[in-house]
Amino acid sequence: MPLELTQGDIAAQDTDAIVTAANRELAGGGGVDGVIHRAAGPELLRAIRAIGGTPTGTAVITPAFGLSARGVRFVIHAVGPIWRGGQAGEAELLAGAYRRSLELAAEHGCRSVAFPAISTGVYGYPLDRAAGVALATAQAFLTDHPDLHVRFVLFDRGSLNVFRRALERLQG
Ligand code: AR6
Repeated sequence: MPLELTQGDIAAQDTDAIVTAANRELAGGGGVDGVIHRAAGPELLRAIRAIGGTPTGTAVITPAFGLSARGVRFVIHAVGPIWRGGQAGEAELLAGAYRRSLELAAEHGCRSVAFPAISTGVYGYPLDRAAGVALATAQAFLTDHPDLHVRFVLFDRGSLNVFRRALERLQG
């Protein structure tokens, strides 16, 4: 299956598109967004400021600017939900952020896309639940887009193991 889990730095990937964990104001931020903006350079911030914002559960796409030296063509700015206990539609919103990112990658002719674990840092989404949503959404999308390669990039070994167990559960 064209679904891969790896440990590493999202900003160091060489996929056609890299996804960042943005906020709905598209204001730039810390965490994953900070490392991607540092790697891509100031044009990336100018590009998302020109777009102005996007609702939680959606995503927007821009050129990759400085990351294009590595072969990356696009940065996809996905807005996951802030965790509020699980009863505020978080799972649907997180799935929406992944699905829209995958659609944008496919619409722009990408063969490969790398994702971080959206919403699991500052936004507080429990990692095991987020992994289930992320992997189920990717797996469903890949059924209709078998040529797309989806890579999840987890920052540390513990997070990678959580994603591995979630994938085993899904593929049961
Ligand atoms: N590579 C891969 N994963 C990483 C990296 C990295 N270099 N660095 C951290 N992570 P976060 P969110 C993991 O907070 O929760 C921003 O300020 C990290 O351990 O980046 O969606 C935005 O502007 C965590 O598991 O994203 C928003 O305001 C995961 O990436 C807000 O934070 C996501 O952590 C979004 O918060």
